[in-house]
Amino acid sequence: MKIDGKPTRTIWLEADGQGVGIIDQTQLPHRFVTLRLTDLADAAHAIKSMQVRGAPLIGAAAAYGMWLALRADASDEALERAYTVLLATRPTAINLKWALDEMLAAVRNRSRAERAAAALSRAGEIAEEDVAINQAIGRNGLKLIEEIAAKKNGERVNVLTHCNAGWLATVDWGTATAPIYMAHDKGMPVHVYADETRPRNQGASLTAWELGHHGVPHTVIPDNTGGHLMQHGLVDIVIVGTDRVTAQGDVCNKIGTYLKALAAADNKVPFYVALPSPTIDFTVSDGVAEIPIEQRGADEVAMMSGRTKDGRIETVQIIPDGSPVANYAFDVTPARLVTGLITERGVLAANREALAKAFPERAGNKL
Ligand code: MRU
Repeated sequence: MKIDGKPTRTIWLEADGQGVGIIDQTQLPHRFVTLRLTDLADAAHAIKSMQVRGAPLIGAAAAYGMWLALRADASDEALERAYTVLLATRPTAINLKWALDEMLAAVRNRSRAERAAAALSRAGEIAEEDVAINQAIGRNGLKLIEEIAAKKNGERVNVLTHCNAGWLATVDWGTATAPIYMAHDKGMPVHVYADETRPRNQGASLTAWELGHHGVPHTVIPDNTGGHLMQHGLVDIVIVGTDRVTAQGDVCNKIGTYLKALAAADNKVPFYVALPSPTIDFTVSDGVAEIPIEQRGADEVAMMSGRTKDGRIETVQIIPDGSPVANYAFDVTPARLVTGLITERGVLAANREALAKAFPERAGNKL
């Protein structure tokens, strides 16, 4: 999408073909910094420290990480090590494992001399596929926004989203944001309520930043505001992203998503989840019981960073010394609370049959 009119992606092969460029998302919204990844350790660090984050981008970054590793050492041992190191960076988003398995399949049966080139080629394809998938999600989700707009006679359509499932979380377009960008680019009056998304504030710092730079009207709201807005008819549709969807349609996403789904159900506000097919994990069914939920460090809850009035970036402690902290990064929204799944192959019911029918090649014999 555009940053001040300039089309930009979140990850790219550097012009000299020797490194991978990323936007350091830990610096946003106050500083736009790009980084060059040159080896496996750089790629693993970028994912773990959340310089890159969001399920599809984690997958693409891991794919390029495999290339960086194989470029240095194309042996079987190095391949296995790269797979293990990258897989351990973040546990919840299944796109990571999907991308690593794709890379393994692309290089495993090749000679050492061929492996790096094959890895680079597959990583590039994974990135391009992500863009195409998100565009298809955008076209399918756009219809939902258009239906609401038709009923509202030109009044603005209010979309609530949680965390950042925008272009910063993917290679381009985003998942939840793709329909929004398409509606906006068509001149429709679409407005986004962006949950701030404590503790890391991806909504306040990333979603608001990217919507603002593309010119999409938006309002940042504290996480607890959504229910109130829904009670007052101020939210027409909720669209969120996801880190893993199970075979039965349960949705794992950033912590707090479940509460938004409960509020949406109570207020009869449609609750949609946008996802690319690599986010579906047909090996698990009951999301609450089976999906590993990442627990992150206490500092993310205890501390807050921001820009002071005189332009310095400062980090301050916001809880008493010694208070224990819990930091679960994701939660699971059961399929019964999901109005529909916006995928590249259409808007599906959140259930086993619909998912298996739409993606038979992925569902395979795991049903
Ligand atoms: O911890 P993060 O920032 O990687 O979490 C991101 C999310 O929860 C997104 O909603 C999800 O990855 C979907 S991104 C299209």
